[in-house]
Amino acid sequence: MVYPTRDICFELARPEDEPELRRVMRETPMDGSIRLAFAREPDFYAAAAVEGPVHQAIVARDPQGRVLGLCSRSVRSLWVNQTPTRVGYLSALRLEEAYRGRRQLLQRGFDAVRAVAQADPATTLHMTTIFEDNAPAIRFLSANLEGFPRYRRVGTVRTLALPTWRRQRLPHGLALRAGTDADLGPIAALLHRELRRHPLAPVWTEADLRDPSRCRGLRPSDFTVAERDGRLVGCVALWDQSAYKQSIVVGYEGGLGTFRGLVNLAAPLLNVPRLPPPGEAVPHATLSHLAAEDDDEAQLSLALIASASNRAIGAGYSWLTLGVGDGDPLGDEVKRQYSAIEVRAALFLVSWPEGHAAADAFTARAPRLEIATL
Ligand SMILES: CC(C)(COP(=O)(O)OP(=O)(O)OC[C@H]1O[C@@H](n2cnc3c(N)ncnc32)[C@H](O)[C@@H]1OP(=O)(O)O)[C@@H](O)C(=O)NCCC(=O)NCCS
Repeated sequence: MVYPTRDICFELARPEDEPELRRVMRETPMDGSIRLAFAREPDFYAAAAVEGPVHQAIVARDPQGRVLGLCSRSVRSLWVNQTPTRVGYLSALRLEEAYRGRRQLLQRGFDAVRAVAQADPATTLHMTTIFEDNAPAIRFLSANLEGFPRYRRVGTVRTLALPTWRRQRLPHGLALRAGTDADLGPIAALLHRELRRHPLAPVWTEADLRDPSRCRGLRPSDFTVAERDGRLVGCVALWDQSAYKQSIVVGYEGGLGTFRGLVNLAAPLLNVPRLPPPGEAVPHATLSHLAAEDDDEAQLSLALIASASNRAIGAGYSWLTLGVGDGDPLGDEVKRQYSAIEVRAALFLVSWPEGHAAADAFTARAPRLEIATL
């Protein structure tokens, strides 16, 4: 049964809602050239903990207690103007189809999100990302309708999917090796030093890297580190999150359906990975925690990615995903070198009147979001 808007209530999710949150995530794909559902099996909260130390889910509930929509808000410390800054991330905006097209319902949902944000005045910036080809969401959210938060686009997050079909050549004179437990301290120091000039990159500490919920499934040996003269100068991790976060293909639209057919026909000949059939997860690991010393950043980053990609072949991943900001030359180079598939997401700052000033003060370019934590 579909209830009228006035009978729907909005509140913070309770621990016992967990199976319902997972169900809504699984059943509500996003529109786009690939219709993807971001599943959170087998525990919604396990994936949520990776987003940040603060995580809240606001649910829309019918009179029977059934969850029909949700929006999540997480908070973590990110670099803004080279200063650690608490930033809220709004995501997982989902509404069951039967409840769509009701402006008042959405408005009440956003009011509930605003109340949760207002209860945390130390967090003045909120952001969200929306795939550029998710036309319904972009249409609605960027219309800046009366009574809704303001969405101001501040950049683009490019997700590159790199097929790992070919071994990459590694540069001479650079020691690249797998990380060890003893490296975690120096890795955290390097991330802290180098990511500060990348707006919206996470502020990592050694404790975060060792935290089994913040970096679930990430082992020291998943890092590849670069050394010069015995000093750690770069790092990247290959983070397999498939045990708690899955991107399930629900369908391919238009051109990409044809593209999939072509890729899969050519796959055995070219030894490239297949695109999965509808209903299956995209098998991938994420290149995360990428940092390289400033004076040689692009070359060093490419070498680290190449080394991690070679290790991925051995580990059986057919795709690696890498997030880069628009305007970061690394993105174009990686795309060319790996013939990567690119999916673009619009990055918006979301604000209500009480937060417009803080949002307007944000003028950074080429943000570097850590897609593994989104
Ligand atoms: C994103 C989502 C929550 C939006 O909810 P929705 O109910 O589908 O939103 P709608 O576009 O129907 O907008 C609701 C109403 O707002 C108003 N509205 C929306 N966009 C408008 C615009 N550009 N101008 C004027 N009014 C607009 C309309 O009254 C609209 O009703 P209508 O369908 O009669 O035009 C929902 O589509 C969903 O769950 N999608 C799948 C998951 C997803 O993509 N999430 C977003 C990525 S995080």
